[in-house]
Amino acid sequence: MVRREGEGRNATVITVGNQKGGVGKSTHSVHLAAALGKRGRRCLLIDLDPAAGSTKHLGVPVNSFAGTLELLTTDETIESLAVVEGMPDNVALIPARPQLSEIESLLSKYVDRTCILDRALDAARARFDVVILDTGPSAAFCTTVAAYSSSDWFLLSAFAHPLSLGGLTEALADIADVRRARNGSLEVLGVVFTAVDRRATRLRGQLEEVVARALPGRRFETAIPQAIVIPEASGRGRTLFQMPRWELIPSAIEYLRLAAEVEHRINNREDFLRGTLEPPDLDAEVASTLGHAVTPSLVVNG
Ligand SMILES: Nc1ncnc2c1ncn2[C@@H]1O[C@H](COP(=O)(O)OP(=O)(O)OP(=O)(O)O)[C@@H](O)[C@H]1O
Ligand SMILES: [Mg+2]
Repeated sequence: MVRREGEGRNATVITVGNQKGGVGKSTHSVHLAAALGKRGRRCLLIDLDPAAGSTKHLGVPVNSFAGTLELLTTDETIESLAVVEGMPDNVALIPARPQLSEIESLLSKYVDRTCILDRALDAARARFDVVILDTGPSAAFCTTVAAYSSSDWFLLSAFAHPLSLGGLTEALADIADVRRARNGSLEVLGVVFTAVDRRATRLRGQLEEVVARALPGRRFETAIPQAIVIPEASGRGRTLFQMPRWELIPSAIEYLRLAAEVEHRINNREDFLRGTLEPPDLDAEVASTLGHAVTPSLVVNG
């Protein structure tokens, strides 16, 4: 449940995943955290990928901080490891670095690999509203398995490309497998399509049909358009929300819409899972975050 300021916190834990590489997992992780942060939610982002996609996207120099490896293999706490300086509003990051790939050899042979996140998540649930886990592109890696095993929600990231159709079916089957074998309470929060070409309506329709067949009601209204400003921001170590005049960047607004959908689903979990949840008024949600309605004529730049 996402709680408002002043209430006791009990964070919900969202894994952003897909075993395919380069499908927008890290981009969604940082932007969803930043967008929820703009909505006043306190977010912890844990980078579970040795390739450190979220860490780099947030401009944290890889190798300069202890982070996920220490969180999972020592008694270090979230408070001592979280980076907050230079992060988007209300976002704290546990950074990753390449040595995270050696985690298997650092864990005691008696430790259950599926539970290595539990100590950290127990602590994080009390202090944050949302915990976002950015996973790497391999379900064989132990931090991915642990994320799948310990999360409340799975947000599936998929590129809107014809080659993604097969990958999407595979990813959905994989989540069903996780639910059967590891974590029966893991629910799919939704499938986010990214790099969507507005003209490719037929492709988008096909992708949405795959989701509708496998998981009725789990598609998001929001899709993230193809936008050069996203890799540009990433190259500068920032989210769109840290760019000048971000309110005029359409992709940033889409991420605000996505955050509103995410929060609505989490806050109304039972209705959502039953398939009876009415969609939120996304224009009103965005307007209230911005403090004013967006004027389409002002919108610039991807
Ligand atoms: N909407 C978009 N428009 C254009 N480029 C995008 C968009 N979203 C993401 N990208 C770019 O696509 C590339 C892959 O995205 P990202 O790193 O988020 O994927 P990933 O799934 O985390 O990859 P990996 O599996 O390697 O961790 C990045 O260069 C990113 O900047
Ligand atoms: Mg990544």
